Amino acid sequence: MTLREYLRHGLAKWLLAGLALLPFAWLVARIFLDQLGPNPAEHLIRSTGDWTLRFLCVTLAITPLRVLSGWPEWLRFRRSLGLLTFFYAFMHALCYSVLDMGLEWPEIAMDVLKRPFIAVGFAAAVLLSVLAATSFNGAVKAMGASRWRRLHQTVYAIAALALLHFFWMRSGKKNFAEVMVYAAILGALLGWRVWHAARQRRFKPGARP
Ligand code: HEM
Repeated sequence: MTLREYLRHGLAKWLLAGLALLPFAWLVARIFLDQLGPNPAEHLIRSTGDWTLRFLCVTLAITPLRVLSGWPEWLRFRRSLGLLTFFYAFMHALCYSVLDMGLEWPEIAMDVLKRPFIAVGFAAAVLLSVLAATSFNGAVKAMGASRWRRLHQTVYAIAALALLHFFWMRSGKKNFAEVMVYAAILGALLGWRVWHAARQRRFKPGARP
């Protein structure tokens, strides 16, 4: 079976969901095995944050993969990947709200206002929730394809906010190595997108050189 045939397979989406939920299942298993190290709350918040960023990168890689390979089959996975990104962001915010803040809403609101890196993460999560809520076919129909597409382009703003959140958080410790790796990946994905859009505009019939 070729990779393209795998991508077309009816079970491929389920396989992806199963694989994508393994890091979460592993985290839950390690809670019960008491294997989260000396600070389990910090470990859970950081791991779910890392997985949110990883899934955001994979989601943004779908369009370049489709264009560069010429295989429209990649698009079958974009919505699921976006929802998986949202799932990890939700778990990340939930771990922070429950484990760090004891679900004290006034304290959480104060923290969002007081710490800019939390405010930026919060903004990214709110935007991501809007995209998750409008990711279904009914929303495309109700909004019209072009408005829906414009709304979903905010995924690039979400990526920038997520990166800023990560950078800000690490700036206290002056530990930027991983932030740089994500900046390079997201920069390449966004750069490709801008280059591709400009190229398409240039080669559109009737476009001026
Ligand atoms: C799209 C949304 C978000 C993404 C992609 C994201 C990503 C991350 C990443 C990558 C880290 C660092 C993990 C590490 O050090 O390995 C992190 C840490 C953290 N994030 Fe987020 N985050 C998001 C939203 C939020 C929200 C909504 C909150 C809370 C309201 C939040 C609170 C925190 C906290 C408290 C930490 C850990 C700080 C520490 O341990 O000192 N994040 N996040």
